[in-house]
Amino acid sequence: MKFTIKSEKPAAVKAGCVVLGIYERRKLSEAASQFDKTTRGLLTSLLKAGDMDGKCGQTVLLHHPRGADCERVLLVGCGKKNEFSDKRYRDALASAADAINRSGASDALSYLPGLEIKGRDTYWKVRQLVEVSIAALYKPDELKSIKDKTSRPLRRVAVNVDSSDTEIAHKALNDGQAIAAGIQLARTLGDLPGNICTPTYLAEQARTLGAGYKQIEVSVLDEAAMEKLGMGALLSVARGSEEPARLITLEYRGDSKDTKPVVLVGKGVTFDSGGISIKPSPAMDEMKYDMCGAASVLGTLKACAEMKLPLNVVGVIPATENLPSGNASKPGDIVTSLSGQTIEVLNTDAEGRLILCDALSYSEKFDPAVVVDIATLTGACVIALGSHAAGLLSNDDKLAEALLSAGTTAADRAWHMPLWGEYQQQLDSNFADMANIGGREAGTITAACFLSRFAGDYHWAHLDIAGVAWKQGKEKGATGRPVALLTQFLLDRCGNDR
Ligand code: BES
Ligand code: MN
Ligand code: ZN
Repeated sequence: MKFTIKSEKPAAVKAGCVVLGIYERRKLSEAASQFDKTTRGLLTSLLKAGDMDGKCGQTVLLHHPRGADCERVLLVGCGKKNEFSDKRYRDALASAADAINRSGASDALSYLPGLEIKGRDTYWKVRQLVEVSIAALYKPDELKSIKDKTSRPLRRVAVNVDSSDTEIAHKALNDGQAIAAGIQLARTLGDLPGNICTPTYLAEQARTLGAGYKQIEVSVLDEAAMEKLGMGALLSVARGSEEPARLITLEYRGDSKDTKPVVLVGKGVTFDSGGISIKPSPAMDEMKYDMCGAASVLGTLKACAEMKLPLNVVGVIPATENLPSGNASKPGDIVTSLSGQTIEVLNTDAEGRLILCDALSYSEKFDPAVVVDIATLTGACVIALGSHAAGLLSNDDKLAEALLSAGTTAADRAWHMPLWGEYQQQLDSNFADMANIGGREAGTITAACFLSRFAGDYHWAHLDIAGVAWKQGKEKGATGRPVALLTQFLLDRCGNDR
């Protein structure tokens, strides 16, 4: 999709479809009101006739509106004006993109960024328009031989802003497209099945990313190299699988060599059967999504490189399958991690922390400013927070605050959970330095407690994305979260340097 910026009167433009907001009940937005005047009350009479009352998500399409130069006008319900919010705006954008795409119009001119939202400027509104529109048209049909294509899909979107805002709007278009591309990559990888998206495949994808941007350098460790380093925890997970494990590193250099990088560590379990502690079969297919942390790291690095952010970012991806076999690790096995700490593997399904702990120790070599790991780590997080917020735990309140704030700005929110010392004792083991599970209570917190023991001498945060990385049900598919949060976090760190 191609985006441009315009600054014109709504009824005087030639466009396949002009998009206008209508508030509940039957209240015209500013642009709609201008359009109404030029068309001698066309919208007013339509609303009076009862075709629309402005409820959230409603859309009405008119053809060849008399008195206007466009082929169509799409009215989008925005709900009550005084309740209009980030979420309502994003919902309106999504219904608009979907309705235009189905209408047959291949180009549109949107006036939705003219709607007022408390605390949001043109940059934010235009960037959201780009991100939401691209996301709304994503279909996970790469592996369908017959694609249900719209005959004339939406190709070009012009965004109307005040003429004084065109420069900032262009910046928003570029940033929005970069972030959307990152989200798209994360979704595509997430939706690929485990037989295609293997650890080797993830490494190839990383290399492709490295080949596409000269600021990204990629290196991949195989099992022999990991063995040499002493990554006994990571390798214990890979034992049961025929697919060889990989440790993938991507280094994005946007700043001088001696600036400490942000390190992003993404869980890359390309299929999690549970291993010998095997999972129940219903919905086990969804464990192909257990590499969504890794996918979000790749997506975020892509967005960074597209925006040429002036900072250094390292992505570290431990990638493996978790399967049962005669070689697989067994409950009760004790393994030695890269840090030297020993771990009693009481449940082979708590594999995410076993691969992340070695990746966290490995990350120390980059002398990080901060380390953030991203993982579909616990079913308990889905129970605690559902599918709206990622779980956030950290050894540094300032870092947590920065991530929370980035999530709010990016409409990709997280929620801060405690990492108090009291929870640590749940990991006590009689035979090793710690167990890899902490019992039924506070599963998300004890998983983070486990990781905290490997987060070296650096500021560290953990995002548990088990509830947000993909959707279940009819709309089953990867969401691309938390690429938007992570990218915003990095953008915020750039401050006024760009
Ligand atoms: N990948 C799963 C977590 C998960 C489960 C994410 C369901 C999304 C939906 C992880 O590897 C896992 O199996 N965790 C266990 C930990 C337990 C054994 C302590 C879990 O949550 O059941
Ligand atoms: Mn598991
Ligand atoms: Zn897992």
